[in-house]
Amino acid sequence: MLFSKICRTAKAVVPCRNVTVTSSTRISACCLSYRKFRLVNCPTPRRVQTCIQMKPYSASKTFSQQADVELDMSQFPVSHIRNFSIIAHVDHGKSTLADRLLELTGTISSKVENKQFLDKLQVEKERGITVKAQTASMIYEHEGERYLLNLIDTPGHVDFNYEVSRSLAACQGVLLVVDANQGVQAQTVANFYLAFESDLHIIPVINKIDLKNANPESVANQIESLFDINKKDILHISAKQGTGVSSILPAVINRIPSPPSDPERPLRALLFDSWYNRYRGAIVNLAVMDGRLQRGDKIQSAFSEKTYEVQDLGIMYPDQKSTMQLLAGQVGYVVAGMHNIREASIGDTFYKPGHPVEALPGFRAAKPMVFAGLYPMDQSEYLSLRSAIDRLTLNDSSVTVNRDSSPALGQGWRLGFLGLLHMDVFNQRLEQEYNANVIVTVPSVPFKSKLKSTKTNQKLYGPNQEIIIQNPANFPDPQQAECFYEPMVLGTIITPDEYLREVINLCTRKRGEQESLTYVDSSRIYLKYRLPLNEVVVDFFDQLKSVSSGYASFDYEDSGYQEADLIKLRILLNSKEVDELAIIVHRTKSREVGKAVCAKLKESIPRQLYEVAIQAAIGSKIVARETIKALRKNVLAKCYGGDITRKMKLLKRQAEGKKKMKKFGNVEVPKEAFLSVLKR
Ligand code: GTP
Repeated sequence: MLFSKICRTAKAVVPCRNVTVTSSTRISACCLSYRKFRLVNCPTPRRVQTCIQMKPYSASKTFSQQADVELDMSQFPVSHIRNFSIIAHVDHGKSTLADRLLELTGTISSKVENKQFLDKLQVEKERGITVKAQTASMIYEHEGERYLLNLIDTPGHVDFNYEVSRSLAACQGVLLVVDANQGVQAQTVANFYLAFESDLHIIPVINKIDLKNANPESVANQIESLFDINKKDILHISAKQGTGVSSILPAVINRIPSPPSDPERPLRALLFDSWYNRYRGAIVNLAVMDGRLQRGDKIQSAFSEKTYEVQDLGIMYPDQKSTMQLLAGQVGYVVAGMHNIREASIGDTFYKPGHPVEALPGFRAAKPMVFAGLYPMDQSEYLSLRSAIDRLTLNDSSVTVNRDSSPALGQGWRLGFLGLLHMDVFNQRLEQEYNANVIVTVPSVPFKSKLKSTKTNQKLYGPNQEIIIQNPANFPDPQQAECFYEPMVLGTIITPDEYLREVINLCTRKRGEQESLTYVDSSRIYLKYRLPLNEVVVDFFDQLKSVSSGYASFDYEDSGYQEADLIKLRILLNSKEVDELAIIVHRTKSREVGKAVCAKLKESIPRQLYEVAIQAAIGSKIVARETIKALRKNVLAKCYGGDITRKMKLLKRQAEGKKKMKKFGNVEVPKEAFLSVLKR
């Protein structure tokens, strides 16, 4: 059928050119490249004459919003594909830049106000931070050619660094965004090295040049001196106002190489992300390295060797948009009837059954930095909470999950997180997305102990055997331990020189050892400190911000273990030990921490009908104490007369308040008390 013939039957009088439509092609696919029109309805060729209606292309409705237009992915050969991520320090404008690029390419409408469009989760919108990397495809015309650009917006906070490292595996280049006012910060350095070590092409971008205090020239000097990048390669933009943004995509096309992929080789696809959909099960993000993938194809996992049938596939444009196929070099989503985390294993390679390929390197496993117990508020919710955790970990593969139990809290799990913010966000997502009501116990970093030949927790250990202590409840008796080790991190701090003294004092208080001190430019200092992780996870960020008026930034990486004089600080409520509140601390900090914990618990445990003694102890020695005075709580005391409804309401509210507490001995403890212990 000829396109001209279709146009004669259409209502609008339009200029047209001949396009051949095969019987299997949907008519809309051939009109796709004819940008002046959009096609409403998506009839089969046979019914096209009666159904279609041509309308002039309108900028108000973006191309991607035309759900009826099916994309023909074969129009994007490997040479016309670019896969790139946006990386930066927290708040330097990644998501805002992503908004502008999506608008510029007509992927989302520019008529509505787009605010961090790719921050889709409720927790991201509420906190104004990105916690989950998001992929979006864009179609962009450059010098008369159409390109398929796959963009991944990544989080900036160190706790979500695993998202960045995974995203980079699906890319050949990055936009390294730096705030024109704040300059290079700790995560800028960390992200630069992630991209550099992955051999990716780096396009430096100085953002927020519209700010009154912007100093792009000095920031360009920092980029040049720290990363050895030529100043003339740096793009200057304001993502908020759109200034200079049009220079980004031509640079992406000209500077970032197309993927080293070949459609003629056997299928080889990398699973780099996944999420759960109630109706479709696990949906996975695949980067097709070689070959082609079509709806109905069978694919096999290199990890589990299980075979699946591709039920649906397509690109994120910016939401899921089905296509008939995904070809070499392209990045998209695939629905293939996978139901749990083990099936959608991050880093897995997929191939066609009978055509095995060498598995891709995958990813290094995420290394949990803090562990905490997670228990249902009510044991009857155990199964539903297990299913919620399974689904959420499908979306966040950096969380480790092991079954655990506690005498007071019942059956639950010990979860490993990349940091406290990560733990907080996971907890919030469980509550918001799965309506779960949970208790999270005091988090702890993974300590180690070398044991003497001994029997602990019903296990027999040989001499010098090392155990990892993820839970303070399992801290061995000091008589049984040869020595203890604590995890260390190598911290990077960038600070204006006027705060140097306070920053150094803080690091010393936190038992840090300086490794290096260098000047980034005439007024900014780049410090490296080896610090105990235990001192960092609690409140180091907050204290660093406070001593530097918010100007210093911090990032860290794992730096092995170091021998340390550790003890278990036991917490007793009315003389009954509460294992879930115990903390492992350095001996020199035990009194200080004990006092702070007792004071915090006093604030967060409500007054009860009897006096409550809160004690911190090392072995049998009490090192701190607080007392909560008794209260005879009579909520009806002021309800005179016969206002029955009000009385009922008050009684109900009191009962609801009680429901949120857990009983330890005779003391009721609200779930907030566990985490308050950390905020010293
Ligand atoms: P995270 O994902 O949390 O790391 O943040 P981000 O890097 O994605 O930054 P985001 O786009 O959320 O922007 C952070 C703040 O900077 C927002 O308030 C933006 O409005 C603002 N912002 C971004 N770009 C510009 C710019 O060019 N000029 C100005 N003045 N503000 C900007």
